[in-house]
Amino acid sequence: MKLFDVYPLYDVTPISAKGIVVTDDKGQEYLDFYGGHAVISIGHSHPHYIKRLKDQLDNIGFYSNAVQNPLQVKLATKLGKLSHCDDYNLFLCNTGAEANENALKLASFQTGKSRVIAFKNSFHGRTSAAVATTDNEKINAPLNKQQKVTFLPFDNITAFKIEIEKGDVCAVIIESIQGVGGLDEPTTEFYQQISKICKENKVVLIADEVQSGFGRSGKFFAFQHHNIQPDIITIAKGMGNGFPVAGVLIHEKIKASYGLLGTTFGGNHLACVATLAVLEVMENENLMENVNQLGAYFMEKAKEITQVKRTKGKGLMLGLEFDFEVAELRKKLIYEHHLFTGGASNKHILRILPALNITKAQMDVFFDKLKIALS
Ligand SMILES: Cc1ncc(COP(=O)(O)O)c(C=O)c1O
Repeated sequence: MKLFDVYPLYDVTPISAKGIVVTDDKGQEYLDFYGGHAVISIGHSHPHYIKRLKDQLDNIGFYSNAVQNPLQVKLATKLGKLSHCDDYNLFLCNTGAEANENALKLASFQTGKSRVIAFKNSFHGRTSAAVATTDNEKINAPLNKQQKVTFLPFDNITAFKIEIEKGDVCAVIIESIQGVGGLDEPTTEFYQQISKICKENKVVLIADEVQSGFGRSGKFFAFQHHNIQPDIITIAKGMGNGFPVAGVLIHEKIKASYGLLGTTFGGNHLACVATLAVLEVMENENLMENVNQLGAYFMEKAKEITQVKRTKGKGLMLGLEFDFEVAELRKKLIYEHHLFTGGASNKHILRILPALNITKAQMDVFFDKLKIALS
């Protein structure tokens, strides 16, 4: 059998990784400024993470959601405390798309309505309702296009109000900082206005923190930069440091009932322990402080690069905008300078998503190599 060929691949075969260093099958080392798409949060093969997962495997790796799993309760409690979201309940699932799918479904159950407001250039995943709220015609099949979704621009409160007041909207879904799109984000005023309008009209506000959550933006959740309280928050990527795990944080005013949501694999023992290990490392190693310091350092260093037209993002969810398309630069960085970086649907943006414990020295290497690659 061959693989279903959907991914254009770089010709690199990683076989081991430690911290932000990835080693390929030829012994070549790469610095990982991409984190496998914002997934590696506490660094590859963190010793505490490895120990927690190995110890758990020695006990029990999986049982379904038909029996008690105290690890889920432990995780919900710790997550509530570290994120300052104690007044939410946690539903565990497996991927970012699945988290958004469940969030949208809950909003529809809650309101009895079905139209969704999403934003231009958004990315919320590749499954049913999640892909329908993704502003990319090419990855929406006719089946997905049956969903009722309206895409609005950021920062146009009049357009937003007109759509909400039509009375048929169940949810507004917004990436707190756009990831795949290229790090755009609206103003705090816009966030606060849409939050208010949603509350007034009983529309469920969903903050997609799949990429921007878990400390990446310098606050636990990126919406916390804007002093709003969404009704539902979705999380995934950095949560498991590579273990497939995702979650939906549901404000306690939205009530659960048996069978409303469900999954076979979601919240299994290994997934819980992977996430607990990430939270423990974040807390014990003060990673959010590092995110803020290194994020600010990155912005300063970027000023030295004359070809950079603009810096974007917050914390360690970063982008450098050039006045040329960066595909060739990314190839050069990976093959000649051994640096992994990310792209965006805005083809002029080089995305930088390193582990949250990256050091200044590693950041310096990145900028030294970038300067050479651009010269
Ligand atoms: C903001 C956001 N939401 C949802 C998703 C989908 O997550 P997954 O690929 O785990 O389904 C992504 C993935 O890139 C994302 O960036």
